[in-house]
Amino acid sequence: MTHPEFRDIQACVFDAYGTLFDFNSAAAGCRDALGDKADALSALWRTKQLEYTWLRALMDRHAPFWQVTGEALDYALETLEIDTPGLRDRLMDLYLALDTFPEVADVLQRLKDGGLKTAILTNGSPDMIGAAVENSGIAPLLDAVYSVEEVGIYKPHPSVYQMAVNGLGVAKERISFQSSNAWDAVAASAFGMRVAWCNRYGQRRERLPAQPHAEMTSLSELPAILGL
Ligand code: LAC
Repeated sequence: MTHPEFRDIQACVFDAYGTLFDFNSAAAGCRDALGDKADALSALWRTKQLEYTWLRALMDRHAPFWQVTGEALDYALETLEIDTPGLRDRLMDLYLALDTFPEVADVLQRLKDGGLKTAILTNGSPDMIGAAVENSGIAPLLDAVYSVEEVGIYKPHPSVYQMAVNGLGVAKERISFQSSNAWDAVAASAFGMRVAWCNRYGQRRERLPAQPHAEMTSLSELPAILGL
């Protein structure tokens, strides 16, 4: 049965990194060089990457996510005292070919079969997300990919979520937004979308204005929420 908050959904919009794409797969692909620092490197890289987006937004000093991702990686490598030659380039290259989570292609196909539009809404700069989408093979299952570069400010600024509304031509309350980032889920809900938080990492709820309308442990639960 359709979740009561998700009736008449016309489009599903997804966050990219952590939701469709497993950012940990970059460090995992360099475990030969990173050894037992791989997990710490991946976690610090991701934390700094997001912090830099929020700080740059507040400072009004936007730069593309590819640059921010590289700067966050430099910080993480230096902190963990990793200076293996060529490793930075390897990690950045892997960010262009991240693994998707196992259920992603099947779920996108079921949404398309159910007549819904599908899109990505991401901090990722166009070349960066474009490469990840192409390399993963999910491009035919997506109607659109929206990058914050179009508005020049990062999530959770409301103008980012508005971009998907404008692009898809679907009212915000008819859009189901999925993110594994709790803060991104909160922000999309505050904006007025219906939100299914993909709580892959077993996090607690954020103490922020607005809450997601549904919670799931993987995207495989989404079709049932939507009544498909
Ligand atoms: C994105 C980051 C926030 O894809 O995961 O926008």
